[in-house]
Amino acid sequence: MRFAVLVSGRGSNLQALLAAEQSGELAPAEIAVVLSNQPGAGAVDLARAAGKPAITIDHRAFAGREPFEEAMLAELARHRIDAVVLAGFMRILTGRFIDAFPDRIINTHPALLPAFPGVDAPAQAIEHGVKLAGCTVHFVERGVDTGPIIAQACVEVRDDDDAARLHERIKAVEHALLPQAVKLLAAGRLVREGRRVRRPAEET
Ligand code: GRF
Repeated sequence: MRFAVLVSGRGSNLQALLAAEQSGELAPAEIAVVLSNQPGAGAVDLARAAGKPAITIDHRAFAGREPFEEAMLAELARHRIDAVVLAGFMRILTGRFIDAFPDRIINTHPALLPAFPGVDAPAQAIEHGVKLAGCTVHFVERGVDTGPIIAQACVEVRDDDDAARLHERIKAVEHALLPQAVKLLAAGRLVREGRRVRRPAEET
């Protein structure tokens, strides 16, 4: 299964995916292309250093969301992409894009959804005073951070945490969870039943 990874920032989750692929832990998933909407994103350099095609499509160069997404969809078609990972991609996708990859787009979010959707989730968690934070890998559907949950992991909030420190520890768990989810999706081992996502046992 050929994946595109969509990024906007530093790309530590992309790095985790690339490392998993390198060590054979991502198969049968393959990272075929990296798309960034953000010129100068560190993730693009990481992709190129790993020998992956990396393309920047600056959303500001388009008259609106639809033409921007059409440009992305054209690149995904050109690279014969089957599935998409949002790894720190900071644009909201329209139904048109989401419908092009039914049950084939996954996102990682730095909070235990449905708590703290949207931007600055670690800061929201600190502000609220929760004792457990974490990350969620989920299918992307219409609606921000609302899709069916594939996997979650907890991180304890420490008394001296600020949003940046907490986010770094959340990222460490994301780096393990996201490659696992990508592998399971590619292997056909994620079964959706309404909002619930099951992982049938591996056949021996
Ligand atoms: C991650 O915490 C992800 O959950 C959020 O944005 C962050 C991206 O970090 N959506 P990076 O660019 O992968 O380092």
